[in-house]
Amino acid sequence: MKSGKVYVVGTGPGAVDLLTIRAVEALKKCEMVIGYHLYVNQIIDLLVEDKQEVVYSAMGREVERCRQAVDEAARGKDVALVSGGDPGIYGMAGILLQVAQEKNPSPAVEIISGVTAASEAAAVLGAPLTHDFSIISLSDLLTPWEVIEKRLRAAAEADFVIVIYNPRSHGRSDLLYRAREIIMGYRSPENAVGMVRRAGREDQQHWQTNLEGLEQLIEQADMATILIIGNSKTYWQQGRMITPRGYEL
Ligand SMILES: C[S@@+](CC[C@H](N)C(=O)[O-])C[C@H]1O[C@@H](n2cnc3c(N)ncnc32)[C@H](O)[C@@H]1O
Repeated sequence: MKSGKVYVVGTGPGAVDLLTIRAVEALKKCEMVIGYHLYVNQIIDLLVEDKQEVVYSAMGREVERCRQAVDEAARGKDVALVSGGDPGIYGMAGILLQVAQEKNPSPAVEIISGVTAASEAAAVLGAPLTHDFSIISLSDLLTPWEVIEKRLRAAAEADFVIVIYNPRSHGRSDLLYRAREIIMGYRSPENAVGMVRRAGREDQQHWQTNLEGLEQLIEQADMATILIIGNSKTYWQQGRMITPRGYEL
């Protein structure tokens, strides 16, 4: 029997032309595609008709999804486990490796990186990530809020550009209000902020603001929104958010 392999495929921010060629090739050659239904729907047209078995999975079923991918690979199938954005950034790569390593023998695994939401949002806004930055998720489903707060304080104090993923964890907007308050404890109200909803997709929206103005925008943030809080040198000019790297002009 041939041995199967699990490909953990990053599907980018939600537009097919933002998948890598490597990701598309992996999807086409696999015999089974497993993923959260929204991500599978985004790439369904790339699959080879009648070739792949497609398994749609629900939110919260991540461990089961990985077990199924690993079991099918153990039975000899090449399986694509799809993961939005980059699978190594709040994605399926970690849990898949943990599940695969529990299995004896563990199947071969290949992780195929993808365009993460931060990269695409930065491209939409201008060039806000051209200096040191930190990425913080406000989701307190798997991380205690005290840990999130501690990281927000540290990043704000150290003057990192701060990228915020999951600004609305289980639909709650209070987390973003609290994160803004914390960051404002270390930064000026004029500190540049950019917000992007559905980056890279047809119905993408973005906003130019600062920490003061962010308060008025928070209710517009949803589960497909990302924020980039500039550092103290970041500025908006002609609608573009720029973090200078230090070059002399
Ligand atoms: C569980 S994380 C997954 C991140 C993904 N692995 C990545 O690399 O982009 C989900 C969060 O990513 C962000 N996100 C994903 N796609 C996005 C998009 N197209 N536009 C804006 N934010 C996005 C949102 O903050 C969302 O709440």
